[in-house]
Amino acid sequence: MSETQVSEAEIAVHWREEEYFPPPASFIGQANASDPAIFDRFAEKNFPECFKEYADLLTWDKYWHTTLDTSNPPFWKWFVGGKLNASYNCVDRHLAKYRNKAAFIWVPEPESAQTLVITYQELYVRVNEFAALLRDFCGLKAGDRVTLHMPMVPELPIAMLACARLGVIHNQVFGGFSGTACGDRIADSGSNVLITIDAYYRNGDLLDHKAKAEDAIAAAKKNGAKVEKVLVWRRHPGTYSSKTPMVKGRDFFVDEVLADYRGKIVEPVSMPAEAPLFLMYTSGTTARPKGCQHSTGGYLSYVAGTSKYYQDIHPEDTYWCFADIGWITGHSYIVYGPLALAATSVMYEGVPTYPDAGRTWRIAERLGVNIFHTAPTTIRMLRKLGPDEPKKYNYHFKHMTTVGEPIEPDVWRWYYHSVGKDEAVIVDTWWQTENGGFLGSTLPALQAMKPGSCGPGVLGIYPVINDEKGKPVPAGSRAGNICIRNPWPGIFQTIYGAPERFVQIYYEKYCKDKNSKDWHDWPYFAGDGALQAEDGYFRIIGRVDDVINVAGHRLGTKELESATMTVEEIAEAAAVPVIDELRGRAVEIYVALKPGYKPSKEIEAKVAAAIENLIGKIARPKNVWIVPDMPKTRSGKIMRRVIAGISNFTGTGDITTLANPEVVEVIQHHVQAEKVERGDTPRKLTEQELEEIKAFGHAE
Ligand code: WT7
Repeated sequence: MSETQVSEAEIAVHWREEEYFPPPASFIGQANASDPAIFDRFAEKNFPECFKEYADLLTWDKYWHTTLDTSNPPFWKWFVGGKLNASYNCVDRHLAKYRNKAAFIWVPEPESAQTLVITYQELYVRVNEFAALLRDFCGLKAGDRVTLHMPMVPELPIAMLACARLGVIHNQVFGGFSGTACGDRIADSGSNVLITIDAYYRNGDLLDHKAKAEDAIAAAKKNGAKVEKVLVWRRHPGTYSSKTPMVKGRDFFVDEVLADYRGKIVEPVSMPAEAPLFLMYTSGTTARPKGCQHSTGGYLSYVAGTSKYYQDIHPEDTYWCFADIGWITGHSYIVYGPLALAATSVMYEGVPTYPDAGRTWRIAERLGVNIFHTAPTTIRMLRKLGPDEPKKYNYHFKHMTTVGEPIEPDVWRWYYHSVGKDEAVIVDTWWQTENGGFLGSTLPALQAMKPGSCGPGVLGIYPVINDEKGKPVPAGSRAGNICIRNPWPGIFQTIYGAPERFVQIYYEKYCKDKNSKDWHDWPYFAGDGALQAEDGYFRIIGRVDDVINVAGHRLGTKELESATMTVEEIAEAAAVPVIDELRGRAVEIYVALKPGYKPSKEIEAKVAAAIENLIGKIARPKNVWIVPDMPKTRSGKIMRRVIAGISNFTGTGDITTLANPEVVEVIQHHVQAEKVERGDTPRKLTEQELEEIKAFGHAE
């Protein structure tokens, strides 16, 4: 990252301050954390022992002797000496009291289909049977990696918990990702078993998902990895809903194989606290996604603790986190956190607005959901398609969460007044795939809400905003890079197979002394620009690296660009974010063609198709612009911020130092004229958005 980025990110705080909303009294009365003494328990003077409170929410086979081991920074170890099993903690231990309570309520997308209730007893049986299959049919054992490429069906958490039971490390890839993206992750994680499904419902269609397994296996093979077994669940057991043939000796229908494991019980394998529980890949500044490795004891403690205090989950609540389990939000706050607390967790298969804009609220009403958790992109879509729908349904939320992207204060207000009916508390939770659980949020009964701000650091998390040189930026002054000064139990352990990248990306920038074994010298660099108001609340601006957050999903510009470069006509490519009414950000791709090729609609379509095939539908660009040349510095670097300014109508900034300033005007004229014609001009941007676009691309 260059020096220039910094100065631009360090903008003065002159933004409008939003008003506070106090937590509703009815919420405070029943909250898990309503005594302010909790702040003292988690104050820095009590670190790291304060996290004993989270770990004590779990059942340990062997209690730990050391809360935090800092002997090999920044590879922190939590609850050292402790042993436990995550599946036991999420399932078995609840049987005595909650055997017949719903663990999951699964809502299939077709509205005529029956809702499926899976009790803790049923979950116990299904997890055990599938664990037996993984162990005895696939030969999997503790430490092995397995890749899952599953949509939102109950078989996904069942498979995760079955892996956890054996100490097998699961690696779930978002179901919407392409087969190729899945295959790269199979190879990187060294999995030789793939767990998938034949088909699932999305927006009214039964999608052929098994087709993606073929691409995945081919991509894995290209990277030198062999998939030996493919376990194929069937969306309708007994009926195969994919056109792709099953490969004999490699592909197996889970419902058929499971018949041999009926009623089998598998002893949960007692794992060391620091044994990896799962991998979750995420985008960064290079074309290669990073496999974030999460621990068993630290992670599970952290998601249990934050689910209790920040999601305010009680066993009698009906909790609906409307995210996909293929993302970290789903791992932490649909599966592990809620189940560790014996919650009832709702899972919905499909699209929020299928078959109409009332669907989400019908589900909430019918199931008696009282805690609702989703992302700004979903909130925006629900508002756009049905601003008055919530009031038609008789549901009542006590608590709502927003996560994954900055939420515009205006959207926040609709969430509060219309969705929450002025009765629900809101937490705006800031965190990342790498973090395991929340980093920034208000404690719902004890801290007032402020639209657009996530709030202060959560319990036991001490954030700081650093300037580029590592000097803390005082609250109420300027923006800078948000860092966490201390380790916490949910932090990932490493990037799988790339420990040096882990140190370099997250710790090198602000490490005060590489030889120090004192955690104070190793702040965690989150990669987000943020500013802190005088009240201590943080406002997250967005990524300071080359990552575009589309509908709450991280996409690396390098990944998008290398997918684009697979199209033979393309000589150069640059991906930039464009402010999007629904998805927060969308992607636009600028390309220059190799000599001899003429711009055409076909080439644009080829680029879009390449991105969809190599990454997934969510990455599909909003526009592909074929330009005569890319704006470049004298040293030949593409100036992404200049084209980002063009795409967003925010101006091109200073272009006098470019090698080819004349091309900027040509591009600007072409792109903007076309956009005006299509009616695709942005609304007035917020100050936060303007800052983000201005700072984009400075990472080079
Ligand atoms: C990036 C992490 C954490 C689960 C979902 C996304 C942005 C996340 C917020 C928020 C503003 C947010 C950040 C962060 N982000 N939550 N409440 N307000 N921005 O996980 O895919 O790892 O993305 O999402 O830029 O770095 P992820």
